[in-house]
Amino acid sequence: MVRTSQARRKRQPAAAHKTTLPARAPVQRVLVTGASGFVGRRVLASLRAQGTEVVAVSRRARREQAAPGIIQVAADIAGDGWIEWAAGCTAAIHLVGIVREVPRQGMTFDGVHRVLTMRVVEACHRLGIRRLVHVSALGARSDGTTAYQRTKFVAEELVRSSGLRWTIFRPSMIFGPGDGFERSIVPVMRRLRVFPVFGDGQTKLQPVSVEEVARCLVAAVECEACESQIFDLGGPEALSYDEVLRRTARALGLRRRFVHLPVGLSRVLLAIAERLGAVSVTRDQLTMLLEGATCETGPTELAFGVPQQRYEGPVWLRSTCTEGGRVAGT
Ligand SMILES: NC(=O)c1ccc[n+]([C@@H]2O[C@H](COP(=O)([O-])OP(=O)(O)OC[C@H]3O[C@@H](n4cnc5c(N)ncnc54)[C@H](OP(=O)(O)O)[C@@H]3O)[C@@H](O)[C@H]2O)c1
Repeated sequence: MVRTSQARRKRQPAAAHKTTLPARAPVQRVLVTGASGFVGRRVLASLRAQGTEVVAVSRRARREQAAPGIIQVAADIAGDGWIEWAAGCTAAIHLVGIVREVPRQGMTFDGVHRVLTMRVVEACHRLGIRRLVHVSALGARSDGTTAYQRTKFVAEELVRSSGLRWTIFRPSMIFGPGDGFERSIVPVMRRLRVFPVFGDGQTKLQPVSVEEVARCLVAAVECEACESQIFDLGGPEALSYDEVLRRTARALGLRRRFVHLPVGLSRVLLAIAERLGAVSVTRDQLTMLLEGATCETGPTELAFGVPQQRYEGPVWLRSTCTEGGRVAGT
């Protein structure tokens, strides 16, 4: 089932676009998968700001993303229905990814990271799309401690061996309106005056802003020197997890006491929460959090400029935070 925000006359048979365009043709139309997601929304905005047309595929078309120059295709990448809509694209940005499995909905790391990346690579070949910008994650490796990391690595390998002109990005924690922290940690922090921290809070993260991530992904599309390269993406500061939490509370105008829980106890509590279906963080996420996510940003800075934005907590939520009946943080 496919819907789009643009008229059907835009549709052309996929077969008409099988010939590969000249390798350095300016990119006029870009296929974006995972377009409805946190990063996808910013990528769409950046592409549109520079006048590039977008074919945006995700299972849920978002009304607020409907705009001239954006063809929204509501489809599962696993199916075929979306492919013909991407005819005429000369580059793709592949953003589909999950942080937790929901097997009863058929959402597994292997199914999403490996299989859907394979689908996108196949579609690129079918449509004559030669340029692929792929988003992986810091920590992706063959012997990763979590299935997330291992399947992200397998997906990278598919991209590297695809025969396409590829670039891979491995971001650290990405922050911005609608980020994972806002969705999982902030609601708990608002409820609990004493906030449980898994582990000693000393692991290091290098939060990078979603604007800067989107800027790099979009710039990479036309960057010849970026081809066949993997770029780590981290922000200007490596922060301890405690500091990330402190800044989060401060931005929300909340006074919180942080209590560190031993890792073993944290795992037991999360196992119980997973069983009850009340998870905001999974045990695998805890494992990755304890590993930390920092990187050398030198090559990325050379190609795309120095990341500027520091993580100051979810400042975009400030005006909506209340504590004790008054607007907090003001
Ligand atoms: N956010 C971070 O801090 C972070 C850090 C490192 C790496 N990354 C990576 O960056 C990428 C984007 O992350 P994000 O934070 O934007 O994730 P997100 O907000 O969860 O969005 C994921 C997107 O994937 C789409 N999707 C999932 N399954 C799909 C399917 N079967 N068919 C079509 N679309 C599907 C979702 O759309 P529908 O649900 O509408 O289908 C959604 O648009 C991911 O690969 C992620 O692993 C993110």
